[in-house]
Amino acid sequence: MELTENKYGAAPPLSLTAEVTHRCPLHCPYCSNPLELLGREDELSTDDWRDVLTQARELGVLQVHFSGGEPLGRRDLAELIEHTAGLGAYVNLVTSGLGLTERRLESLVDAGLNHVQLSVQGADAAVGDLIAGARAHQHKITAAELVRRAGLPLSVNVVLHRANHDQLAQLITFAEELGADRLELANTQYYGWALKNRSQLMPTPEQLAAAEPIVDEAMRRLKGRMQIVYVIADYPEKYPKPCTYGWGARQITVAPDGKVLPCPAAASITTLQLENVRERSLAAIWYDSGAFNAYRGQDWMSDTCRTCDRRELDFGGCRCQAFLLTGDAAATDPVCHRSPDRGVVDLILAEPRRSGFVMRSPQ
Ligand code: SF4
Ligand code: FES
Repeated sequence: MELTENKYGAAPPLSLTAEVTHRCPLHCPYCSNPLELLGREDELSTDDWRDVLTQARELGVLQVHFSGGEPLGRRDLAELIEHTAGLGAYVNLVTSGLGLTERRLESLVDAGLNHVQLSVQGADAAVGDLIAGARAHQHKITAAELVRRAGLPLSVNVVLHRANHDQLAQLITFAEELGADRLELANTQYYGWALKNRSQLMPTPEQLAAAEPIVDEAMRRLKGRMQIVYVIADYPEKYPKPCTYGWGARQITVAPDGKVLPCPAAASITTLQLENVRERSLAAIWYDSGAFNAYRGQDWMSDTCRTCDRRELDFGGCRCQAFLLTGDAAATDPVCHRSPDRGVVDLILAEPRRSGFVMRSPQ
């Protein structure tokens, strides 16, 4: 390790999101990956990834999330999982379920896989396949069944938006039927491709009001059986979310080509000088790079945040959102009612909603 601490007091990261590929069989309109996806030819090799994983563990990472794209698209996934598990890290697979056969799962479990996080697009095939832009729904049912039989814990993740919000109760029932231990119901965050579809994805105020009692009731009813996490839609809120629990504080993301990101959406901040593991060690990038240090601590904050007593609760909100809505990544997140840019969010909320998704295209 080249450096173990820095002047911002950065502690080691807890988790690594290893985006091993951008290739994906689905076309979800809410995809938060960048508009320009990387191709197979840009991806780190097996040896490169082994090296990244070793470095991540040396840096202090405890959990590795294999993600994408669809990580099952990498033929060397079992090798990478075996390497990670051998380093003593907890291994999670974030998957659409497409491509998860019994034999494939067996090889991943043998390699040391600990947990599966399965995306679900709708409560039935009509909605699920429409949003996925592929015949995906039945694969989710099969994948969940395989994971359960393998004895692994299962999380189901649903990105909520106007086209599936009305299915909320059915989605909770569906996750129960799939045997999920944990259900994350996350309202869409508007980064990457999702931003193109913001108007089409944005739930109505009525949908959001209807959702809370449904979630509260399910949380009470399923306590101890299925944990439910509800991620609110932040635009209508008064305060922003504590995005990533602070920039460069807990997690590190490595993109398919080796770029190292302080949050999975950070490539949207075009003013950020992102560094690459092909050129510099992960430890040096974590502790010493401009991109990671840009929004650590409080010196970068605008007066609005620096003088606010919530600054240690929400860290001034989300840097990616601040950049995408104001052009300045150091601005107070415009979701905050104290932000001078709050009008931008109010205008978006007042716009008439469009229909007709632009489906995620491969490149
Ligand atoms: Fe958070 Fe800044 Fe708003 Fe205070 S002013 S609530 S720190 S975003
Ligand atoms: Fe990047 Fe919030 S999504 S900081």
